[in-house]
Amino acid sequence: MDRGFLFGDGVYEVFPVYNGLILGLESHLKRLQDGLDAIDIVNPYNKKKWISIINDLISYHQESSNQAIYLQVSRGCDDDRKHTHGKLKPTVYMQSTPFQSSTKGDLLKGSAAITRDDIRWSQCNIKATSLLANIMYAQEAKKHDVEEVILIRDGIVTECSSSNLFLVTNNCIFTHPKGPYILPGITREVVINCAKYCDIEVKEVTFNKDSLMDADEVWISSSTREIVPITCIDDKPINNGKVGEIWSLIYDRYQAIKSINV
Ligand code: PDD
Repeated sequence: MDRGFLFGDGVYEVFPVYNGLILGLESHLKRLQDGLDAIDIVNPYNKKKWISIINDLISYHQESSNQAIYLQVSRGCDDDRKHTHGKLKPTVYMQSTPFQSSTKGDLLKGSAAITRDDIRWSQCNIKATSLLANIMYAQEAKKHDVEEVILIRDGIVTECSSSNLFLVTNNCIFTHPKGPYILPGITREVVINCAKYCDIEVKEVTFNKDSLMDADEVWISSSTREIVPITCIDDKPINNGKVGEIWSLIYDRYQAIKSINV
């Protein structure tokens, strides 16, 4: 009778752990809190307790140098399957999965993507466990043997099925502004900070598909994929199919941050 199972009534987080240290822990816990507030679930744990149980889970898997920690908080179990709910005890589920980051050599080969209409609801900023549209896109990416599906809402490029999107034109990085149409990715935030560190301008503004196709560089970002250059969209090469130099600078800075951790 868990409403997470019956309705997808819950929120989740995924964060990367490198050599036992969590990248962006505070930001992930903040986004979790924002999601719980948005759907009116009382956070079952305070920050100290979260950090303690997450670290316990990490310590059980010391054999994996990199772990992806998945955690889900659902509204909890009810005595009946009805859409409305009263005050329930939230259910917490967590798992650790080993993961391997792609090497720079692999990423330099480039990756492909396809574009589709963004049919998702307009509260994509909530990291909700109900991911039906996202998994349909992911399956389509798999069917077309591409890395991602790039989503376009009313002519505006928003993000991807499970990652944020960046483009580079004239040495300036562009990404969709935060708001109801994208997930405020933690890796997106880290990328923006890396760009600031490298003195590269970032504009959080909207752009259309023409700008995407004409870009010098396109990348996607997520906690488990890090930063992946996209060199072909809808079977058309981006920048003659070459991986760009700005990606390389940001990628290197990201790798440095991983090893010092934040
Ligand atoms: N997905 N946009 C969407 C729709 C996502 O599902 C994700 C992450 C991101 C990137 O967010 P972050 O940088 O915080 O990982 C953007 C995770 C990895 C998942 O669903 O497994």
